Amino acid sequence: MTSLQVNGRDHQLDVDPSTPVLWALRDTLGLTGTKFGCGVAQCGACTVHLDGQAIRSCVTPVASAEGRRITTIEAVTAGDDRVGRAVRDAWVRHDVAQCGYCQSGQIMTATAYLQSLPRGTQPSAADIDAAMAGNICRCGTYARIRLAVADAARALA
Ligand code: FES
Repeated sequence: MTSLQVNGRDHQLDVDPSTPVLWALRDTLGLTGTKFGCGVAQCGACTVHLDGQAIRSCVTPVASAEGRRITTIEAVTAGDDRVGRAVRDAWVRHDVAQCGYCQSGQIMTATAYLQSLPRGTQPSAADIDAAMAGNICRCGTYARIRLAVADAARALA
């Protein structure tokens, strides 16, 4: 059995320790907001937080996540965390999503990034692009993502 804490709840999962966190979330726990993209940590669609850090769940075995906090898009979009709320609101204001497939990962990366900034920091466009560089969007929503992250940072300042 593998013990995972996901979105503040403890779970005992009967999965092989090498199972990627992505599949434990989607197939075992039914948390399908986290997406499978490339499967080799190159696109960012599967991004979740592990102890507050953005990680690629498609290449992270559940064994390495035991005893640590996993946060998924479900908690960020439904919770009342101030950073999550600011990002969510900015995403809606800027109508960021196109097909939407990459957006869960984009939001998780943006949220971890803004959580890591000292309060009051207003990142430049170059800072935001660097922070978001690991998340690919096939629809090319990068300009709206940049605006939304900047807007969320302003709201949090
Ligand atoms: Fe379609 Fe990003 S919104 S891949």
